[in-house]
Amino acid sequence: MELTQNLKNELFKKACDMLNFSYTPYSNFKVGAALLCQDGKIFGGCNIENAAYGPSNCAERTAFFKAVSEGHLKFDAIMIVGGPEGKIKDYCPPCGVCRQVMMEFCNPDTFKILLAKSENDIVEYTLKELLPLGFGNADLQK
Ligand code: THU
Repeated sequence: MELTQNLKNELFKKACDMLNFSYTPYSNFKVGAALLCQDGKIFGGCNIENAAYGPSNCAERTAFFKAVSEGHLKFDAIMIVGGPEGKIKDYCPPCGVCRQVMMEFCNPDTFKILLAKSENDIVEYTLKELLPLGFGNADLQK
């Protein structure tokens, strides 16, 4: 699906809306994500922390797991925003674990990761750029 400015704006708005649900009593660093499926549906996600720290879940993985658990397996792009107290000061790149989850479900050559500081300040990477030589399902067959 072509990522028009209108669609990017919609993804940015959805990712920002998700900041309101971010549950971060420990870090207070809030992250919102909006995952675009190939059929046009958009799933939101926020980070969800835990007193035991380890069970915390990032915004990106929340969005992926919501989508996959509802039968969606094909994705075009994800928009990510975040910052301390939910104030977006800089780009918020996905952690290594989230990149690996993306690798499970997305084509690294075409899946787009959009990082935004505002509607008019969006940078775009492919998954391959952020996870070169990623290990995926196909490697298990070799
Ligand atoms: N976090 C995300 O949700 N996504 C990222 O891409 C980076 C980090 C969360 C995890 C934790 O709740 C907080 O941000 C601080 O690391």
